[in-house]
Amino acid sequence: RMIMKKSKTIGVLVPDITNPFFSTLVRGIEGVLYRENFVTMLCNADLDMEKETNYLAELSRRGVDGYIIASSAISNQAINQTLRKKNLPFIVLDQKKAEGFSDAVLTDDFAGGDLAGKHLYELGHRKVAVVLPEDATENIQNRLQGFKAIYSNPILIHSELSKEGGRQAVKRIVASEATAIFAINDELAFGIYLGLAEVGKTIPNDYSVIGYDNVDMCEYMTPQLTTVAQPIYELGQTTAERLLERIHHPKKDWEETTLPVQIKKRFSTAHLK
Ligand code: RIB
Repeated sequence: RMIMKKSKTIGVLVPDITNPFFSTLVRGIEGVLYRENFVTMLCNADLDMEKETNYLAELSRRGVDGYIIASSAISNQAINQTLRKKNLPFIVLDQKKAEGFSDAVLTDDFAGGDLAGKHLYELGHRKVAVVLPEDATENIQNRLQGFKAIYSNPILIHSELSKEGGRQAVKRIVASEATAIFAINDELAFGIYLGLAEVGKTIPNDYSVIGYDNVDMCEYMTPQLTTVAQPIYELGQTTAERLLERIHHPKKDWEETTLPVQIKKRFSTAHLK
């Protein structure tokens, strides 16, 4: 039997390292891997398919022991070619859709969208805008579906998933009839804060704003941001643990774990006046 040489390295692919969601996620991953004497090799894909494919190939050339894929640009074909065919252990999460043929860790995005909708509805808002990227990944689409369980026909405003994307969405928000805004992640919400301030609107007097993720910054904003909390750190830990289990038991059945989300009611949402 051939003895495989182990690199004790795990490759982690994320879409956007400037977003604190991903730094907290990676911190959770890295904590578990470090404890188990693995090194974390971080690859920032920038939503760029070529970059992501190159990273995947390069990681495989370096003989990493496993892959954690949170970015979505990579095609299933590349995953099949580079990982499945060679039986390399990998796990997907967040923006990378779970296809049922690998381990995956999810959070309950549908429930999260539903919670955001219920909260705004209870506050009396009837015209709401959702700010999200145009070709949203599966997890974000699920968030929107959950929201639509409450508001069947929200005003959809498409913008890039970033602070600047949020800022740029504001023109279209103020031109709409919306009184409340569901930013599909906190980064967008932060940009919306700046954009609204620039046109002299205040939160929550003129607009209620709810975000998604619960990154640390939410509590440092004025007003503190109401948001749907993903267990980001735990999500990273769980993912790393599952991957290590896969490395130790390559033949076990695929496992899909869904972690719960919860709403954090703060001061950016208020009753419609
Ligand atoms: O903030 C980053 C967003 O993209 C999060 O909501 C996360 O779930 C990812 O999909």
